[in-house]
Amino acid sequence: MKVGIIGFGFMGRMHYRCWKAMEGVEVAAICDADPHAVTDPNKNKGNIAGAVGDVDLQNISVYSDPSKMFADKKLDAVSITVPTFLHAPWTIKALEAGLHVLCEKPMALNLSEGKAMIDAAKRSGKVLQIGHCIRFWPEYVKAKDIIESGTYGRVIAATFQRLAATARSKEGSWFSNEAKSGGMVLDLHIHDTDFVQYLFGMPGSVCSHGVTIPGAGLSHVVTHYCYSDDKLVTAEGGWEMMPSFGFEMRFLIALEKATISFDHRRQPTLKVCPVGGEVFTPPLGNGDGYSRQIEYFVRIIRGESVPSVITSQQALDSLRIVEAERESVQKGKRVNIA
Ligand SMILES: NC(=O)c1ccc[n+]([C@@H]2O[C@H](COP(=O)([O-])OP(=O)(O)OC[C@H]3O[C@@H](n4cnc5c(N)ncnc54)[C@H](O)[C@@H]3O)[C@@H](O)[C@H]2O)c1
Repeated sequence: MKVGIIGFGFMGRMHYRCWKAMEGVEVAAICDADPHAVTDPNKNKGNIAGAVGDVDLQNISVYSDPSKMFADKKLDAVSITVPTFLHAPWTIKALEAGLHVLCEKPMALNLSEGKAMIDAAKRSGKVLQIGHCIRFWPEYVKAKDIIESGTYGRVIAATFQRLAATARSKEGSWFSNEAKSGGMVLDLHIHDTDFVQYLFGMPGSVCSHGVTIPGAGLSHVVTHYCYSDDKLVTAEGGWEMMPSFGFEMRFLIALEKATISFDHRRQPTLKVCPVGGEVFTPPLGNGDGYSRQIEYFVRIIRGESVPSVITSQQALDSLRIVEAERESVQKGKRVNIA
């Protein structure tokens, strides 16, 4: 299988590392509009370790224009790891060129772009997967397994948190331009929105409170995802932290007979505290969310039978929930999800 990567910044380098580790896969082409992006390993840094530095370009064709890459190279699949405002146009072009597409999250800037991507995938008959890597992240996968096993009873409350210094660390870049990144809710908070959807399905409504900073948009949000039963599901996202704070993601899930706690900076990262028993860390799956989502993408392309983890319709639904969260902040009231 020959793959290409469009956009060789932080996530392009992350996908490169994961693709290189896959058996039977060759990274045949890389495309970036910035000629220094491919050769300078220090150019783009992100929140999580794992993106490769130096890349051996000996057997890789390098392009600056994705259309030229599609025309020149016989590829099977492509990672789209460009800034968010380019997800829809390049995904649609790649699908029309006959390639399977793994496009980074968020799917697109809005619902109409997302729907156009799904339509293009249907027309082409190719796989379109959106990089909601948290669905594949070992600790999140384990929490979902534990909840669904029913061993510890029903969920009473679940809260998710994702805090970053993006507003300052990426000041002046496309991230800080809401028209290009979708702002904090689409770029950062959607990870938790999407996981809430994965765990509990679509909420009936959302009630969000947020802080909108002039020129920077909605920068911090707390959302209550409302379900038909009485479990309390909330998520907080914000990217106005100080650079020395860095990045933190965590969750706390209160079940009737256990509490599950995750903090990616703590060791062990995941703790299960059962009623009347010792705290323990269950065994976690190998690899990280990025490599596991690429492995899943390949298995889907190869037609292997795998349990469904993510569909492009679910990625679109996460956009729908985030749009409702934004509306709820603006209107100062609960918003139903159609
Ligand atoms: N899944 C995750 O955990 C995660 C983490 C970070 C970012 N992301 C997402 O990944 C995407 C990329 O983010 P990033 O942090 O890698 O950004 P980045 O700025 O580090 O990299 C983007 C790259 O795209 C290149 N580019 C811009 N326009 C291009 C074009 N027309 N053709 C080819 N290349 C072009 C840029 O030169 C740059 O090298 C975003 O949508 C972001 O939301 C996801």
